[in-house]
Amino acid sequence: MPMATMSTKLFVTGGAGFIGSAFIRLLLDRDDATEITNFDALTYAGNLDNLQDLDPERHHFIRGNITDREAVQAALGDGTQAIINFAAESHVDRSILSADEFLRTNILGTQVLLDAARERGVNRFLQVSTDEIMGSLLEDETAYFTESSAFAPNSPYAASKAAAEHLVRAAHHTFGLDTIITRCGNNYGPRQFPEKFLPLAVSNALNDQSIPIYGDGRNVRDWIYVDDHCRAILLALEKGRSGEVFNIGARNERRNIEVAESVLDALGKPHSLLRFVKDRPGHDRRYAIDPTLAEAELGWAPIETWESGLRKTISWYQENARWVERTRSGAYQTYYEQQYGTEVTS
Ligand code: NAD
Ligand code: TYD
Repeated sequence: MPMATMSTKLFVTGGAGFIGSAFIRLLLDRDDATEITNFDALTYAGNLDNLQDLDPERHHFIRGNITDREAVQAALGDGTQAIINFAAESHVDRSILSADEFLRTNILGTQVLLDAARERGVNRFLQVSTDEIMGSLLEDETAYFTESSAFAPNSPYAASKAAAEHLVRAAHHTFGLDTIITRCGNNYGPRQFPEKFLPLAVSNALNDQSIPIYGDGRNVRDWIYVDDHCRAILLALEKGRSGEVFNIGARNERRNIEVAESVLDALGKPHSLLRFVKDRPGHDRRYAIDPTLAEAELGWAPIETWESGLRKTISWYQENARWVERTRSGAYQTYYEQQYGTEVTS
């Protein structure tokens, strides 16, 4: 799909969240010809602070829910070239506590968007998905997730994202909708809600609070800097062939314990802040992505190393203590605190 020609109109959902807002920032910085409608329900994870510095001429925010057909239809202007669907309930721990909202937003919401894309003649639909739909790899094996790995989601979150992928595939197969699916691993970077592991570790460590490590801390995640992920999405949008799926990963597998130690070391904090706690139920052991297709076909490669990405991320949290304070105010409690209280010993 050639873009950045005369004027490109894109409909981004979930653009007030962590990855969606980074994507919008990247896109607006990259060319002057893109206009974005950002459709977001502003759930606990959506934050208008994330959009403050964006050009109001080219970024139009609409508060709305992707499960609301009329609202989606009304917001989707004529001549929209593509829908990029970031909107989701995105935290595994929350899906363990209650799956309802995950099913509504991630599954039904995706179908509403697919229907709207078809009815309004939108050229392309890009679904932002996750490696978690492929379940778990073994800790010590050398296998990787590829685009043809079997679906084997293990958490309610992963199952809802897998269902969404099936609906996207079905819309392509049955109705000929031009679709792309991207699946990536664990993103890190500025503006990530501090219930996810890395921003939680950074913000706790900055306040000399302990970092909860689930289980033995040897679970492996494949970490990618958020802007690298967003550049891959953009390339997939522009260069991907209709119906394609791309795995996006930076070949950066890390054990959780190593991630937490890197954060503590970068901040000069003691390892005694690590606190081993009861494991997450059904905790996937290892995610590892083979990004060969994205590299070969899209010409994509990550720019940040783990060291440079982590440095940028930590600096951002250091410089934006107010953002964290505001985000965490109110009734905010991590999953772990909700389940086990704050005074848990290892
Ligand atoms: P996030 O939780 O930070 O943001 C989600 C955004 O979606 C929020 O702004 C929220 O207000 C909005 N939203 C939620 N429900 C909505 C609804 N019903 N209607 C409209 N808007 C709604 O999530 P994120 O980390 O930015 O993730 C974005 C996408 O990337 C998600 O689809 C997620 O599954 C996927 N993903 C994330 C990661 C990761 O590491 N964060 C990894 C792989 C895939
Ligand atoms: P998370 O950020 O929730 O992402 P995901 O579950 O989608 O991978 O968690 C990343 C890893 O860190 C995961 O293995 C669970 C673990 N974890 C902890 O050890 N402690 C925590 O407080 C959290 C939130 C996660």
